Amino acid sequence: MTAQLIDGNALSRQLREEVALRAGALRARGIVPGLAVVLVGDNPASQVYVRNKVKACQDGGLHSVLEPYPATLSEADLLARVDALNNDPAIHGILVQLPLPAHIDAQKVIEAISPEKDVDGFHVASAGALMVGQPGFWPCTPYGCMKMLESINYDLKGKHAVVIGRSNIVGKPMALMLLQKNATVTICHSGTQNLKALTLQADVVVAAVGKRNVLTADMVKPGAVVIDVGMNRNDEGKLCGDVDFAGVKEVAGWITPVPGGVGPMTITMLLVNTLEAAERAST
Ligand code: GUN
Repeated sequence: MTAQLIDGNALSRQLREEVALRAGALRARGIVPGLAVVLVGDNPASQVYVRNKVKACQDGGLHSVLEPYPATLSEADLLARVDALNNDPAIHGILVQLPLPAHIDAQKVIEAISPEKDVDGFHVASAGALMVGQPGFWPCTPYGCMKMLESINYDLKGKHAVVIGRSNIVGKPMALMLLQKNATVTICHSGTQNLKALTLQADVVVAAVGKRNVLTADMVKPGAVVIDVGMNRNDEGKLCGDVDFAGVKEVAGWITPVPGGVGPMTITMLLVNTLEAAERAST
């Protein structure tokens, strides 16, 4: 069997068209959704990420400003900048790109962002809202994975979902989102014994470890949905995920590719969250 692809680029295009329409409706009322992206230092990967985020906003009819600062920026100065953005009515979403230089306490900076503008969904208030099922902002990557499942009309009720990875940004919120849709959820991590025995039971597997070949064909139940959050390089320097795509696509029912899967969805959900922040602020 060959799995069907869940195309993150195509789904992103569709969702971004909806964002552009909703942004147009706000604009007609004199409101332009605005995102501020704060980058401290010159991490090359971060520079690429933030450029893509700012460009995607502009393409979607959102106002977006990039604020680059040198790696020597003090924590106090960064906190003061976040405070100013919290109080700027033209800015509805604030994203401080991670990682931050070692002398800055990233968690402290995240907690300084107003929860109403926390479009990354990293604030403890956002995490708490997700935990108890209240409105807030969902972290973009797991939110994008949920949209991918929704796009194939996958009913999670009663299904066994196995999440590999327990990060605050992906694994943990992913598990809560799946739970909210009534899946039975197992979270696996580096200390998990016999991962294969668990993944073989899974109707849905989300691989979010950051390591190649974490999930191979022998670990997948025939017909399962496989979502690959990984972003790695193979020996030839080519982008690849956590899943052995060539092998797993012969067993799975659905699979997301890398590139062109979860990656574009992460940026798209940032646009969705920013738009949502502007809509909430306007009512
Ligand atoms: N660094 C890598 N991914 C992300 C992300 O989604 N948000 C932020 N703020 N920093 C990141």
